[in-house]
Amino acid sequence: MTTWLVTGGAGYIGSHVVRELLASGRAVVVLDDLSSGHASRVPAGVAFVQADVADGQAVTQVLQDHAIDGVVHLAAKKAVGESVEQPLRYYRENVDGMLSLLEAMAASNVTRLVYSSSAAVYGSPERNPIPETATLQPESPYGETKVVGEWLAAAQGAASGLSWVALRYFNVAGAGSDDLGDDSVNNLIPMVFAALDKGESPQIFGDDYPTPDGTCIRDYIHVADLASAHAAAAAYCEAHQAADAFNVGRGEGSSVREVMNTISAVIGRDVQAQVAPRRMGDPPASTAATEQILLTLGWKSQLDLEAMVASAWSSWSAHRSR
Ligand code: UD1
Repeated sequence: MTTWLVTGGAGYIGSHVVRELLASGRAVVVLDDLSSGHASRVPAGVAFVQADVADGQAVTQVLQDHAIDGVVHLAAKKAVGESVEQPLRYYRENVDGMLSLLEAMAASNVTRLVYSSSAAVYGSPERNPIPETATLQPESPYGETKVVGEWLAAAQGAASGLSWVALRYFNVAGAGSDDLGDDSVNNLIPMVFAALDKGESPQIFGDDYPTPDGTCIRDYIHVADLASAHAAAAAYCEAHQAADAFNVGRGEGSSVREVMNTISAVIGRDVQAQVAPRRMGDPPASTAATEQILLTLGWKSQLDLEAMVASAWSSWSAHRSR
């Protein structure tokens, strides 16, 4: 049995990854500074260390105390708009965090890494679905830090034999259980729920895009599916000398209007979305090419948009009534 450290393991995505790694038969240790995560999301029996991933001494201690075999690195800032306003903070937290982690891993002979990357590395894609070989042209400091993180992993792989996989997440949604929902209200689905709670109309940011219904198309992926991609990547890093970046999406686009319609169907009333102006910087469409991850990791998504919306709504409602 191998033991994996999950940085950011108390967060929305991390808490799903922790459960999936446990289910795959691995032991897990969580490191999280609780800046946005919750200690209550760490399952009983999983060792939890509250520390910043940039705290090299604390991370080295954890790697050695728990004889860690591999790291899933998720601890990072992830709000695109905020990164435009606070680029230095994003570089500091995301790039310094990764650098410091890689140093601690090298010092402790930990040679496997699954790195949390993003579709934001592609910026506005030239074509869809986007293959992993597409040019990386991020359009925000957030996306830039994710590219730098991939470069760091690749450079360290070449220099020291680190076995690494970067997972480029598309639009993550849903919840694996009611207690693990996304409470950050950064993305479309939670933003719609928040508007409905306030008695306001959810907004569609632009309906004059060159897409079939005029609204932006995204590739929504269930967080439970995303978590299983991490377990597949961990297994791959264990069995191979990996140096790979994979898209994690369904390979299927949904428009903002389709998401609104799905929400209306799931909650049983028309959400009465209103069209608002375009939001700066939104690409009209972004969907993942999924052949590589299927071919190499044997992974594909299982859950559809309705499952994402239904689980997100269930978790949101449970949270609200608490
Ligand atoms: C972006 C990033 C992604 C990042 C995510 C989370 C890119 C290419 N993608 O995704 O990497 O992980 O943010 O911060 O940079 N929308 C509305 N009304 C709303 C909210 C959103 O119409 O109230 C629309 C947006 O215009 C967009 C779609 O819904 O077309 C999804 O938006 P969002 O959930 O914010 O994610 P992205 O911007 O696609």
